[in-house]
Amino acid sequence: MEMSFAQVTRVVPVAVIGSGYVGLVAAACLAEIGHEVVCVDVDQARIELLQSGGVPIFEEGLDALLARHRGQRLRFSCNLAEAVRFAEVILIAVGTPQSPTGEADLSQVESAVISICPGLDSYKVLIEKSTVPVLTSQWIARTLRLNGASAKSFDVVSNPEFLREGSAITDFLYPDRIVVGADTERSRKLLHELYQPLIDGSYYRRADRVDGPADLSGGVYYIETSTNSAELIKQASNAFLALKVSFINAVSNLCERVNTDVEEVARGIGADRRIGSRFLRAGIGYGGSCFPKDIRAFGKVAEAVGYNFDLLKCIEQINEDQQTGFLKKLRTALWSLKDKHIAVLGLAFKHGTDDIRESPAITMIRKILAEGSRVSIFDPAAMNNCRAILPESAQLRYAVDEYDAANGAHALVILTEWPQFSNLDLARLHQSMRYPIMIDGRNLYSLAKMSAAGFYYYSVGRPSAEPLPEAHAFAEDNSAMMENGLLNHSLTA
Ligand code: UDX
Repeated sequence: MEMSFAQVTRVVPVAVIGSGYVGLVAAACLAEIGHEVVCVDVDQARIELLQSGGVPIFEEGLDALLARHRGQRLRFSCNLAEAVRFAEVILIAVGTPQSPTGEADLSQVESAVISICPGLDSYKVLIEKSTVPVLTSQWIARTLRLNGASAKSFDVVSNPEFLREGSAITDFLYPDRIVVGADTERSRKLLHELYQPLIDGSYYRRADRVDGPADLSGGVYYIETSTNSAELIKQASNAFLALKVSFINAVSNLCERVNTDVEEVARGIGADRRIGSRFLRAGIGYGGSCFPKDIRAFGKVAEAVGYNFDLLKCIEQINEDQQTGFLKKLRTALWSLKDKHIAVLGLAFKHGTDDIRESPAITMIRKILAEGSRVSIFDPAAMNNCRAILPESAQLRYAVDEYDAANGAHALVILTEWPQFSNLDLARLHQSMRYPIMIDGRNLYSLAKMSAAGFYYYSVGRPSAEPLPEAHAFAEDNSAMMENGLLNHSLTA
């Protein structure tokens, strides 16, 4: 039966502090499930952009959701005091960057909490949405009391966010679970009201719902814990996911050494439901705004409480080695990188986003440039962000598309798994490239297809492929490569 949200939920007034990735998505999605939301930021230009219909980040479905609720159940403001007075629930979604020593820098959280204090004129719940180390909720409560808030005027709840860039909207609305760490009955009740449409499944029965990947009409899995547990769940989840990525990357190195295919091996491992097939894609290592910093911060938390969590260091080390190994592969494929022209496809740390924070692609490009190659790059979403940190120069050119990047290149390197990169016109590439060499950090092509298309193809954790003898238009390039001593190389990194 289709129904409207008004029949099943109380409208909760919500203030979201921070209009970054997590804040903006949470604000849009909470409006979508029926609440009255004001999203606040100190960045006036960003708020003006949002008020006027702009969207500061690239995230599928976000613009449509903002357009649907902006000016109705969702507004944007720089007036924090007013937003706090309006709200019963205050989400803290400010940045928690990494400090120079590896811990999470919680200064933005602290200053947000201090600014909230004067507005606590009635009972409100503060929700930690930003990724924070365990025990942060206790620090928030202490800071509120030190700044004059009465203990009865608030509770602090940990409600970690597990959304991924690129699928953030559906991750929020169709989560595997919602974790709420609350230590009082009153705050538990308010959080339950906030998520009621997802808990009872009424949102998923609405005719105008955003469609998602699962049928949750029976309701989402809602887990109530202590605040400390919820904080640990968030950090441990990210660490475990990064562990899976590093594990399969380590296995990919073994695969290369015994001449087998990590894709087959991962399929076999992942079919065991105790392990699961997701996050077992070998590649050039994880990046992004979360995994690298969260794993370091988790290690620091363990250290601070006297536990030597060495496994976290191994996860990081494998990740670094994976990037070094990939560069070595490129160097071996081309013999030397000096004065070569390398085409690079992909700048974002993964597909579906324009985010280049801690992107392995950026590290790789810097290293390739440092070895004396010219680089032409293309990414469908992240070029503008990249220009700000890697300006165009005689050595670095921003291409208009994949084929423009590849034109005349000695090698084509794939660094982000954008779906469009897995459907390239191989004949066209082959014709326009100087050498038919592809080094694929995301395993987007089958070895047979690349051989048939006349490419030397090197990927991650798989045997390398060479052109079939009958592959078209190959003879001339072949002789050019012979001259350069490129054949008969073993490319195991
Ligand atoms: C991650 C968590 O998944 C999310 O729950 C949390 O809230 C924030 O951090 P995100 O950083 O958006 O989300 O990206 P994710 O999809 O998890 O990928 C992280 C990195 O791991 C990317 O660089 C990706 O390319 C890499 N990865 C992921 C792999 O190399 N192989 C895989 O199988 C999966």
